Amino acid sequence: MTLHDLGARTLRLFDPETAHGVSLAAMSLGLGPRHSQRDPTLSVTIAGLTFPNCVGLAAGYDKNAEVPDAMLAAGFGFVECGSVTPRPQDGNPRPRLFRLTEDRAVINRMGFNNQGLDAFEERLKRRRGMPGVVGANIGANKDSADRTADYVEGLRRLWPWASYFTANISSPNTPGLRALQTRAALDDLLGRLREARAGLTAAHGPRPVFLKVAPDLDEGEIAQIAEACLAGGIDALVVSNTTVDRPGGLRSRQAAETGGLSGKPLFQPSTQVLADFYAATQGRLPLIGVGGVGSAQEAWAKIRAGASAVQLYSALVFEGPGLVGRIRDGLRARLAAEGFGHLSEAVGRS
Ligand SMILES: Cc1cc2nc3c(=O)[nH]c(=O)nc-3n(C[C@H](O)[C@H](O)[C@H](O)COP(=O)(O)O)c2cc1C
Repeated sequence: MTLHDLGARTLRLFDPETAHGVSLAAMSLGLGPRHSQRDPTLSVTIAGLTFPNCVGLAAGYDKNAEVPDAMLAAGFGFVECGSVTPRPQDGNPRPRLFRLTEDRAVINRMGFNNQGLDAFEERLKRRRGMPGVVGANIGANKDSADRTADYVEGLRRLWPWASYFTANISSPNTPGLRALQTRAALDDLLGRLREARAGLTAAHGPRPVFLKVAPDLDEGEIAQIAEACLAGGIDALVVSNTTVDRPGGLRSRQAAETGGLSGKPLFQPSTQVLADFYAATQGRLPLIGVGGVGSAQEAWAKIRAGASAVQLYSALVFEGPGLVGRIRDGLRARLAAEGFGHLSEAVGRS
């Protein structure tokens, strides 16, 4: 066990939200692990943007863009900060974050607590010129009169500073947000994002824009979203956010808490939805697989189901940041054992 794994264990003695704060502070003090980002066999290029390796940090850990460089230094190939909303927001009352230790899972109903675009933009500006892929996950304020305008505002303010964008329309903790996944609302959103992108690209150069979806979608909804994204110029789908479902067999006392479930129990449903999106898009739309990745085996399963890259968050709570290096080592070993020269050859080969 490394010092960092021990750190992760110690953090679990605190209540989850305090532990999260302590972990952010430790990372910003440079106490995280050090691992090179470069991994030529695991590198991936999506919409012209090259990720030095395919294992990314999912949104929600670094909502205010406080520690992207420390997370990159820990070995993540890319870091997605946010979700950020135009105006600062307190989020829901505490407690709102629950550790389901027996299930290796987390339930959260944070509700987009974040410091808003001003603070986020300032931090990204300060790291101008630094290497590394840092994405901005953008959201909408809970009390916004025009939620689509909030996403456009996120693009507009952060375009010069972020490597890519993810429009998060799938958090279960902002009432009504997931309705943006329905066809008419999605066509409107994508149309307005596209319009904004054209001007921003002319002024500052291109940036990939991804869309993050829920795992709680049926076949028809998956087909509609895939079609809208292909027609609407979205560069990749991030599949998936947390689930409002509670799969049978959860053992933890807090399993009935309201909010989005993530971690191990999300692996199967989110990987199924990923495979369904891969089938629906037939490889025409890159996919980023998220949900329950806690080992190389799970990362590999996401790749085989159609993911070009993966992200994780909840497993860090149980495994510590040393996990990213272990997953990369395991993926390289797996590629070699199965006779692949590069990760891209394994995508969708289920
Ligand atoms: C505490 C917490 C906060 C999160 N906040 C966000 C968020 O602000 N925006 C977002 O797109 N996803 C958010 N997520 C979802 C994660 O990015 C990820 O999609 C989900 O947790 C599944 O991955 P995992 O099983 O590896 O955690 C959050 C997850 C957790 C556990």
